[in-house]
Amino acid sequence: FRTLDDVNVAGKTVLVRVDLNVPMKDGRITDDLRISRILPTLHELSRKGAKVVVLSHFSRPDGKPVPEMSLKPVAAALATALGSSIPFAEDCVGEPAQSAIDKLRGGGVVLLENTRFHAEEEKNDLAFAKRMAELGDIYVNDAFSCAHRAHVSTEALAHLLPAYAGRNMEVELKHLQAALEKPEKPVAAVIGGAKVSTKLELLGNLIDKVDKIIIGGGMANTFLFAQGREVGKSLCEKNLADTARDILRDAVTRGCAIILPDDVVVAREFRQGAPSKVVPAERVPADQMILDIGPVAAARLGTILADCKTLVWNGPLGAFETPPFDAGTVTVARTAAALTASGRLLSVAGGGDTVAALRHAGVAEEFSYVSTAGGAFLEWLEGKELPGVAALAAPAAVAAK
Ligand code: 3PG
Repeated sequence: FRTLDDVNVAGKTVLVRVDLNVPMKDGRITDDLRISRILPTLHELSRKGAKVVVLSHFSRPDGKPVPEMSLKPVAAALATALGSSIPFAEDCVGEPAQSAIDKLRGGGVVLLENTRFHAEEEKNDLAFAKRMAELGDIYVNDAFSCAHRAHVSTEALAHLLPAYAGRNMEVELKHLQAALEKPEKPVAAVIGGAKVSTKLELLGNLIDKVDKIIIGGGMANTFLFAQGREVGKSLCEKNLADTARDILRDAVTRGCAIILPDDVVVAREFRQGAPSKVVPAERVPADQMILDIGPVAAARLGTILADCKTLVWNGPLGAFETPPFDAGTVTVARTAAALTASGRLLSVAGGGDTVAALRHAGVAEEFSYVSTAGGAFLEWLEGKELPGVAALAAPAAVAAK
């Protein structure tokens, strides 16, 4: 696809789709990774003399204006990060957007209101897309983390205006391709999180792509149960035991090793500081629940990672927000970070809680790459085509369908 190297933006109005769906608590942004990652594109467009019109969704307002889901508070944070003032338009189409854009000088940046305040956005509605396209001359998509959505601002616009990938989009794709499409082998995937049901497609795809899948978190319990182990009061999707057995069998035939925890941390109740103990995975007491992998498992995983060249990480290995059940995730994350620092491992992480878990371990900066994407990262791992990326790759062909 084409990038900012392929277009002269001076004097042009550029619609830039970014992902400002940032985590907020009490009106304050709690993690600004998504903001810092879009700055290179915004600075470059501005420096080259474009009028920069920033588009994003925020949260899930369900197609109507919801005041608490306005992007206005994010405009202030974006302005601070960018080091220039950013006017805010109360709507992403029509007169409010047009008049804000008309007031921009070359190099100026404006943020438009939440695209999801219009139901047509998520319907990928063509008439609405045309109204949005009228606002600009060029479309830049810098929101890899929204690329799994076929919405007006992530997909349709790419067919209506000359379309380019932004710098963040380029960087995300480059790293994910390095990790999964042409990786240095052996490749390990650490897959954690609470539920197997949300990761079935992902496991099915990874079995063909990686050499080892390390399973932790609540989803490991379902696999242990499927192997006939007692899991006590642990979170466990017992109805998926057959599916888990199929996955284990398929992995063997395709030469992918699935690694489950040898030992686990158990407690009678799930709360911060609850009394806990380490037991072998086959000796979980009936009145206790698994909340983390144990130290033997963590050490073994470190040895396994030391033999690998590439690591893809998605999901925590235990209930990391609730110490002491963070120890397994922290130990393995730090081992991966140390191997990365010594140049022995390419480590790529992404999805939902994963970045928070790595930050908690203090190693998010030390991974080779941390994706800003949650759902899009998962769909990528599932091997799915992402509509936002596909539209950039072949805008004319897709439009002709
Ligand atoms: C995300 O946070 O993963 C993206 O911003 C997409 O948000 P969505 O799941 O509401 O489409």
